[in-house]
Amino acid sequence: MTARIIDGKALAEQVRGEIATRAAALAARGEQPCLAVLLIGADPASAVYVRNKVAGCEKAGIRSLRFDYSADVAPDVVMAKLAELNADPAVHGILVQLPLPPQFDEAAVLEAISVEKDVDGFHAENVGRLSQNQEAFIPCTPHGVMKMLESTGVPLAGAEAVVIGRSNIVGKPMAMLLTNAGATVTVCHSKTRDLAFHTRRADILVAAVGKPRFVTGAMIKPGAVVIDVGINRLTDGPDAGKLCGDVDFDSAAQVAGAITPVPGGVGPMTITMLLENTVISAERAAR
Ligand code: GUN
Repeated sequence: MTARIIDGKALAEQVRGEIATRAAALAARGEQPCLAVLLIGADPASAVYVRNKVAGCEKAGIRSLRFDYSADVAPDVVMAKLAELNADPAVHGILVQLPLPPQFDEAAVLEAISVEKDVDGFHAENVGRLSQNQEAFIPCTPHGVMKMLESTGVPLAGAEAVVIGRSNIVGKPMAMLLTNAGATVTVCHSKTRDLAFHTRRADILVAAVGKPRFVTGAMIKPGAVVIDVGINRLTDGPDAGKLCGDVDFDSAAQVAGAITPVPGGVGPMTITMLLENTVISAERAAR
């Protein structure tokens, strides 16, 4: 079997077109959507993500405000900026790029963002709302994965879904979304015994482990839908310098029914969902 490729780039472009139309309608009513992005420190991957988020905003007609801080900034300075942005009616979304330097209490920072402007969906109240299947801002990566799964037409209700990874950003909200959609969900992680036992049962397999080419074809059920959330830069071997996912694409594509590539899979959908959340927030403000 050779898997169908789920083209995240094409899906993202289609959805971004719809988002741009909504952003233009808001701007015509004097409510141009606006996202504030805070980057603290000089983590190279974070800098790339923030650059892509700001560029995505510009293309969609969303205003962006970017605030850069050195790694040794005092947390009070950032907290004061968040309070200012929370109070600014022209700002609809606020995002603090993670990870944060060690002097920060991450949970305190995320909870200092107004729930109504928490377009990352990381505030404890949004997390709680999602866990209760109530309307909430949904974290962008797992939300993008859900859109990709929907695009395949695979039935989610009753499906066996396995998520590898239990992070607050991807694994846990992914498990909640799949549960809310009626899948039977298993969350695997670094302490899981016999990972392949679980993964081989999965109709839907989501890999978010951060280990290059970790999931091989031998771990996949024939015909499964495989979603690769990983973005890893290979440091050695013949492909050194190349980007790859958490899934060994070549062996997995022989077994899976559908699979996302890296790059061009989940990545473009993540930023798309951030843009959509920002537009949703602006639409609420314009009501
Ligand atoms: N770091 C890695 N992924 C994310 C994300 O989706 N949002 C934020 N704010 N930081 C991240």
